[in-house]
Amino acid sequence: MDIVVIGAGYVGLVAAASFASFGCRVYCVENNESKLRQFEAEQVDIYEEGLHELVQQGVHDGRLSFHSRLSDVLESAKLIFLCLPTPSVKHGIADLSSLLNVCEELGAVIPNDTVIVVKSTVPAGTTARLERVIRHAAAKLGKQVDFSIAMNPEFLRQGCALQDFLHPHSVVIGTKDPRAADRLVRLYESGLQNPVIQIMSPVEAEMAKYASNYLLAARVSMINELANLCEAVGADIASVRNVVGMDPNIGSGFLNAGIGYGGSCFPKDIEALIKTANTYGLDVPIMRAVQSVNDRQKQRLVANIIRRFGNDLAGYRFAVWGLAFKPGTDDMREAPSLDVIHALSALGASISAYDPAARRKAQIVLEGVSVEYTAGKYDAVIDADALLILTEWEEFYEPDLAQLKERMRQTLIYDGRRVLTKEQCRNSGFELIQIGAGR
Ligand code: UGA
Repeated sequence: MDIVVIGAGYVGLVAAASFASFGCRVYCVENNESKLRQFEAEQVDIYEEGLHELVQQGVHDGRLSFHSRLSDVLESAKLIFLCLPTPSVKHGIADLSSLLNVCEELGAVIPNDTVIVVKSTVPAGTTARLERVIRHAAAKLGKQVDFSIAMNPEFLRQGCALQDFLHPHSVVIGTKDPRAADRLVRLYESGLQNPVIQIMSPVEAEMAKYASNYLLAARVSMINELANLCEAVGADIASVRNVVGMDPNIGSGFLNAGIGYGGSCFPKDIEALIKTANTYGLDVPIMRAVQSVNDRQKQRLVANIIRRFGNDLAGYRFAVWGLAFKPGTDDMREAPSLDVIHALSALGASISAYDPAARRKAQIVLEGVSVEYTAGKYDAVIDADALLILTEWEEFYEPDLAQLKERMRQTLIYDGRRVLTKEQCRNSGFELIQIGAGR
C-alpha cells in the first residue's frame, strides 16, 4: 500500500519509518528544506532510540523517501497521514494553520479513492472541519473529489516512541466511513501483532487523545500534591505510592512525584481542553487544578532553596543535573528545569548544568541566561553549594558521592526526581532534600 505522510516531525517520522517497516512504500513530505537535506544525508534531528536506524533501513530498502512537494507524490497514495504541528497560540487555542493550508492544497490535488488520516492532536470537531475545507477547496475548482477522512491519534511517549508505535495498547480509528476504517485496519493488521483496534466517531477519537493526556497529567498533579502533604506530616511518598500502586483499580503508572510535568503535550493539551470546555460554556475546575498544582510544583524546589539560603543568592553556586523535560529525550519544551533555572538566576545565583542529551537545545531556549554547561556530571558540581537533580537520567542513580564531596562547597542535594536514597546519602555525609520525603 502506498502511503503519504505529511510532516516529518516527531510523530510523522516515527509513523513513516514504522509504516515502511510494515512493507509499505512511504513518501514523506516536509517543507522545511534544511530538514529535508538532513534526511537525504540520512541524519535524523530527533533524539529517539532506534529511530535513526529505522529511517536508514527504510531508505536503504527503497521504501522510505523524502520530498518537498505534495503534488509530486500523490498519484498512487491510498492513505495520506497529516502529522503537522498544532501548537498552542494563546490560552489554549490550537494553531491549525499548517493543517488548514495543507487541506486547501489537498482539495486541489487529491486523487480519487484516497483516505486522509489526521494524526495530529486536534480539538474536538477539527477532523470534520478539515473535511469541509478539502471539499470546499475542490469545489472552488469545479472538482468532485472522492475521499474519506479518519482521525487516528497517537499515544507515543518520547524516549520510547517506536516501542509505543509498534506495540500500542490500542489503535484508535475515528471515522464514519467504512472505506477509511477498512483501509486503516488492513494497514495496522499488516504490521502489528494482534492490535486492539477501536473504531469510533472522529470527535470521539479527538476527545480520547485529550482525555488520555489529561488523566495522566492529573495523576502526576495528584501524586505531587500528596507528596507535599507527606513531607508536611513526616511520611515518605515512595512508601505511600507503593501501597496504592498495588491496587489494580489505581495502578502504578504515572505516580512518580517530582518537580512537575512538562513537555510538548501535557501542558498544551490541558490548556486546549480547558479552552474547548469554556467555548461550550463549561467550567472544568479539576482540569484547572491539575494545571495550577503543576505550576506551583515547578517552584517548590526553589522555595526550599530560598528557605535555606535566603532571597539573595548572589555568591552561591548551584549545580543542575538534568535539563530535558524527562529522561531519554533532548526535548526542552516546557521543561520544569527552565522554571528552576530562571528563578535561581533571577535571584542572582550562579548556575552550572549538565545533561547527557539536551545541552544544545537548552542553550537555545536559555539564551541570555548565564549558565555554565559542562561536558560531564562531575564537572558541573565543582564549588557548588548544592546539587539539584531535575531529570531522572539513568546515570544519576548511582553517583560517586565521594567525588561529589571532594568537589562541592557544601554537601547538600535537592533531589527533584527521587533518584537517590536516604541511605546512600547518609553514609557519605550528604544532606538529601527530596520531593515527598518527610524528615
Ligand atoms: C505524553 C503521553 O504519556 C503519551 O501517551 C502521549 O502520546 C504524548 O504525551 C503525546 O501527546 O504525544 P510524553 O510527553 O512523551 O508523553 O511524556 P510522559 O512520559 O507522559 O511525561 C510527561 C511529563 O510528566 C514529564 O515531564 C514527566 O517527567 C512527568 N511525569 C510523568 C512525572 O512527573 N511523573 C510520572 O509519574 C510520570
